[in-house]
Amino acid sequence: MKLKGKNVLITGANGGIGRALVMALLERGAAKVYAAARSADAVAELIDGSSDQVMAVRLDVTQSASVRGAAEQCRDVELVINNAGVNRCMGFMGSSAMEDARLEMEVNYFGTLAMCRAFAPVLASRGGGAIVNVCSIIGLVNLPVNGTYCASKAAGHSLLQGLRAELAPRGIRVIGVYPGPVDTKMTAGQEMPKATPDEVAAAILAGVEMGDEYIFPDPMSRHVHAMLEKDPRQVERDFGAMVGG
Ligand SMILES: NC(=O)c1ccc[n+]([C@@H]2O[C@H](COP(=O)([O-])OP(=O)(O)OC[C@H]3O[C@@H](n4cnc5c(N)ncnc54)[C@H](OP(=O)(O)O)[C@@H]3O)[C@@H](O)[C@H]2O)c1
Repeated sequence: MKLKGKNVLITGANGGIGRALVMALLERGAAKVYAAARSADAVAELIDGSSDQVMAVRLDVTQSASVRGAAEQCRDVELVINNAGVNRCMGFMGSSAMEDARLEMEVNYFGTLAMCRAFAPVLASRGGGAIVNVCSIIGLVNLPVNGTYCASKAAGHSLLQGLRAELAPRGIRVIGVYPGPVDTKMTAGQEMPKATPDEVAAAILAGVEMGDEYIFPDPMSRHVHAMLEKDPRQVERDFGAMVGG
């Protein structure tokens, strides 16, 4: 899909990767970017000083009325980027694991599902288009220190596989993005090599334009993906060994 002249909606647009995607879309000539954020302050900040091609949308992906309202407001969207996400950095045995796992499922899985269901008819009415779901490389193998988050991203991976087949007859492409660690609020305080939001955003949009269905947008995600192709049990053991490390 060529992005020049397209109308695009991004959820979590006030976050690290979301902001970088808004800027990268403008650079690639998108006609209109609906930048969706859940708080009024974040929405106001998003439109402040940015190009008049950026339209702020108030959207909480866990609230069905909010999702429905966004789909009614943005009738001309041709590409939806489901980028909103939460990571409570919790293992399955942690004291607040039940609460954290439910929140992650609500945002990362049910929120993404609700967005896809609400926007598929909008995309279909414009002849097809595409949905990009930002998953994670640790949706493909569990990293136990982030165990509950990984489970929600694994559900997100399964979601996009199923949707790909269900939406293909309506001309809608479904694209999965599997980043490794990225330097955003989500990984603040975690010491490890991280990609920049700008490089990840550029790789995501390059993949969309190339027609990729699976996008591994940074060196760490490409490395882990290659290891998973070769020996998935070894990656599981290596990630498991990081517990307490
Ligand atoms: N950073 C990484 O290492 C990494 C790696 C792999 C995948 N990812 C994925 O990349 C995506 C973007 O994350 P990021 O790194 O840019 O993190 P971030 O800076 O923390 O941004 C997360 C965004 O999601 C929004 N959000 C959270 N709950 C929401 C809800 N209920 N409704 C609507 N928006 C909501 C946040 O809004 P508020 O500001 O209102 O909280 C924020 O805009 C996420 O899906 C994340 O799982 C990140």
